[in-house]
Amino acid sequence: MNKIWVIGSANTDMVVKTDKLPLPGETLLGGSFFINAGGKGANQAVAAARLGGHVTLVAKVGKDLFGKETIEGLKKENIDTEYVFTDENAPTGTACIIVNAEGENYIVVAPGANANLLPADIEKVNPISGAEIILVQLEIPMATIEYIAKPAKAHHQKLIINPAPARILSNELLAGLFLITPNETEASFLTGISVTDETTASEAAAVLLNQGVQNVIITLGRQGACFQNREAKFLIEAPVVQAVDTTAAGDTFSGALAVALTEGMEWEKAIRFAVQAASISVTRMGAQASVPYRKEIII
Ligand code: RIB
Repeated sequence: MNKIWVIGSANTDMVVKTDKLPLPGETLLGGSFFINAGGKGANQAVAAARLGGHVTLVAKVGKDLFGKETIEGLKKENIDTEYVFTDENAPTGTACIIVNAEGENYIVVAPGANANLLPADIEKVNPISGAEIILVQLEIPMATIEYIAKPAKAHHQKLIINPAPARILSNELLAGLFLITPNETEASFLTGISVTDETTASEAAAVLLNQGVQNVIITLGRQGACFQNREAKFLIEAPVVQAVDTTAAGDTFSGALAVALTEGMEWEKAIRFAVQAASISVTRMGAQASVPYRKEIII
């Protein structure tokens, strides 16, 4: 039985590297274009698998070439794809991504089949009760996430919500949640506190803890990641790197963290492991193309 179950999106990313973003109505001559496997769910599954985890992905793709390539790619990563469903009517999700000279990304997702990953699909996923960690993001319907949360809590599984892209989360979802991992933008959206640094991250974390979340990690990009629960709080600094493309840095962090926790690492070591993996990913172009392998991590 695989210990890590990722439930989320699988996309095909269309990426253009350019110096600056176009203004509305402006046409720019950008740089190179490439197509790359992406989607926050699939990215996190790949990160967990490359970093040493045994992973099952629950997702939905279209009955098209991108869907076929997505499943083939996941299999090559040794990810269990038994529950990667194929939608007869919707295309595989796609993302249009522009990466600027600083490595910052701008992403628009056309969800396609991801929007049809429904509670009825999760009902078919009986072995989920054997998972130790369940990792979800917010590129699939909220009803599905809420449907997953109930049995996860009942089975004392560690449910991790990576709240990306930022969406409103119900009180029921947050109450008793094992871990939430927003970045600074998502933490600001969820709490109303403008998160820019360790101090404001701690204030935002306190809001989430008051809503019943057990553990909070707020990622702060090049500043690192802040951990907070009722007993402890600390910042793990990120190594200084030259960022080429920050796409999937958060996904790499989440996948790495899931591996570290299933291996029994303490919070501090687990977050150091995840920060280092994410820092490597930003030095490379692409989503899954940028995710490091276990042998690259030295902690
Ligand atoms: O987190 C990065 C991912 O967001 C991309 O791979 C894209 O597909 C969107 O899901």
